[in-house]
Amino acid sequence: MQILDGKIAAAAVRESLKTEVSQLKAQGKRAPHLAVILVGNNGASETYVASKQKNSLEIGFLSTLVRLDATVSEEILLSEIESLNNDATVDGILVQLPLPKHISEQKVIETINPNKDVDGFHPVSAGNLVLGIPTFIPATPYGIMLMLEHYNIPTKGKHAVVIGRSNIVGRPMSILLSSNLPYGNCTVTICHSHTPNLKELCLQGDIVVAALGRPGFVKEDMIKDGAVVIDVGITRVPDETKKSGFRIAGDVDFENVAPKTSYITPVPGGVGLMTIAGLLKNTLVAYKKAEGIE
Ligand code: GUN
Repeated sequence: MQILDGKIAAAAVRESLKTEVSQLKAQGKRAPHLAVILVGNNGASETYVASKQKNSLEIGFLSTLVRLDATVSEEILLSEIESLNNDATVDGILVQLPLPKHISEQKVIETINPNKDVDGFHPVSAGNLVLGIPTFIPATPYGIMLMLEHYNIPTKGKHAVVIGRSNIVGRPMSILLSSNLPYGNCTVTICHSHTPNLKELCLQGDIVVAALGRPGFVKEDMIKDGAVVIDVGITRVPDETKKSGFRIAGDVDFENVAPKTSYITPVPGGVGLMTIAGLLKNTLVAYKKAEGIE
């Protein structure tokens, strides 16, 4: 069993981005610029946004944070997005989810200019992904593909089982793994809450991606010997032994599943770190498009 270490793989991606950005700056070009909108003060969102900003700055990007009160109207949020759409110095726009109940996430996503949709959530990006047209790939599945690439995990002809069908992870993941890509070409099964024989299907998986948000859901009797297990879960579970009062739990019962696997991602320290790497790569793509590079 080998750990797929998100710290190492994400650092490698950041390093190559950092080099590229410094070369661009040496040519007199401006820095790529990511704008993040954070509505309210959800604890997990605060942490993710801080991390996205820190990583952006670390590799030489500009990063702007637009903070809006939880009571902000949908109209004002949409007009903030419009002004970032119209700002030629902003390459990528990200509105951190979830949003307060009175705001339509779909409307927000659809207001972002598809050329700046570094989250890959806009219907134009999602449609392009399905059609195999180069586009912004949602950051978490993109990060997983980068992880497979970093560790050179063979995928061609393998059976991948994806648990979860969310627009953010499960569905785009299933499309990427089935696409004709260097780390794609899998036969893919998508499981969800209405899948009656989930255990039997998981047992057939050469690669199992758990993205359902239920801590410890994947047990050792669901995984075949030598499988590759990717854990996307990042649930906050109360834990009084921690200073924060919680710990981050994955969807996989790591302790018991890990010995059966060929490769497995830990939580924390796995996919979560790769997500930011995917976002940064998308932002550089948006920048290059805006600048007419490549
Ligand atoms: N909330 C949880 N994951 C994500 C993500 O990838 N992007 C955004 N914008 N919000 C999220």
